[in-house]
Amino acid sequence: MSKNILSAKADFPALNQSVNDHPLVYLDNAATTQKPQVVIDSLVHYYSRLNANIHRGNHALAVQATEAYEAARRKVAGFINAERNHEVIFTRGTTESINLLAYSFGEKFVQPGDEIIVTQLEHHSNYVPWQLMCQRREAAFRVLPFDEHGELDLTLFQRMLNEKTRLVAVNQVSNSLGTVNPVEEIIRLAHEHDIPVLVDAAQSVQHLPRDVRELDADFYVFSGHKMYGPMGIGVFYGKEKWLEVLPPFLSGGEMIDLVTPEKVTFNVLPYKFEAGTPNVAGAIGLGAAVDYLRQFDAAELQKYEEDLLAYGLQLLSDIPDLIIYGSPKHRSSILPFNVAGIQHYDMGVLLDSMGIAVRTGQHCTQPIMDALHVSGTVRASLALYNDRADLDALAAGVRRAIKMLKR
Ligand code: ALA
Repeated sequence: MSKNILSAKADFPALNQSVNDHPLVYLDNAATTQKPQVVIDSLVHYYSRLNANIHRGNHALAVQATEAYEAARRKVAGFINAERNHEVIFTRGTTESINLLAYSFGEKFVQPGDEIIVTQLEHHSNYVPWQLMCQRREAAFRVLPFDEHGELDLTLFQRMLNEKTRLVAVNQVSNSLGTVNPVEEIIRLAHEHDIPVLVDAAQSVQHLPRDVRELDADFYVFSGHKMYGPMGIGVFYGKEKWLEVLPPFLSGGEMIDLVTPEKVTFNVLPYKFEAGTPNVAGAIGLGAAVDYLRQFDAAELQKYEEDLLAYGLQLLSDIPDLIIYGSPKHRSSILPFNVAGIQHYDMGVLLDSMGIAVRTGQHCTQPIMDALHVSGTVRASLALYNDRADLDALAAGVRRAIKMLKR
């Protein structure tokens, strides 16, 4: 039987505390989620019983640590339904995964005059690495804009695809607006031209169905810390046919096969892309987070989170002078807003004084803020342990802050 969602809050020790003399209401989950005790325990267990370097020793601890690390890779591969375990590369997080691809793909496949398409809805981490790579390779950096609802225009996208397009990079859920992008359709359209697609799943892997084979994503990346796992660990998934031909990004120990002064050959997948000592504890902790998430019924969890989002959006939209940004048909987990005449930063500080944690500012998405003509927004973001009481507290907090700031 699957785990009851309403019992989840008790699994997260950090949620059970007071901040600024108020019970913590944690609504900054798009920045990072809290960790369940089982993930924390897995880290403590690793460092207190297993710690050894992996793939490098034949003593008992090295063997056990290696096995635990590879077991975590298998768990992640199963979680995203990768066909092969070695299609899962451990990185530091989404940012490193995208930098890896931008560097390797650019080196191998991008020539002057080629084009890369990203969208105006991207986080800087799925924007700047492509922009810099295009500058290095003298390629054109093309940006698909979003419309007044915060949605991408697929007709325009189709018109942007051409014989010079080398790759499309798009997030599945926007961290600033919560728009759920039609990545299935984007992949299908790009594949009609044999163009590979990178899906940035940093804000979707913890909320939406995750199946790289059903999506037919060529590359799919995410971070552990936004899906109840540790910081400093993330995933770069690539189809084997791409990983075989891409050059390594980082070089050093473990990623080599033969090294002489004249030449170097590379290790097999996935090690070709895992230079140096990896974050073994992080990978094991991410495996524990996967186990934790898999206790819930995925469809039930998605519905719970969608209902909660709709409830929160309704509460906020009832507040006079409050502006909610974007009106996409399908939104996930993000409540982006401002109150007319109040700085987002001031709202954030007052909410914090009431124990309510949100993020304010540009959210690493200056192109989105520019398009909205704002200097920033207040962003509340949801996780599976949030409930209606958290959103009631947010709405009451916003009303109180308005009274204090507009007095
Ligand atoms: N990318 C994270 C966010 O959106 C940090 O807050």
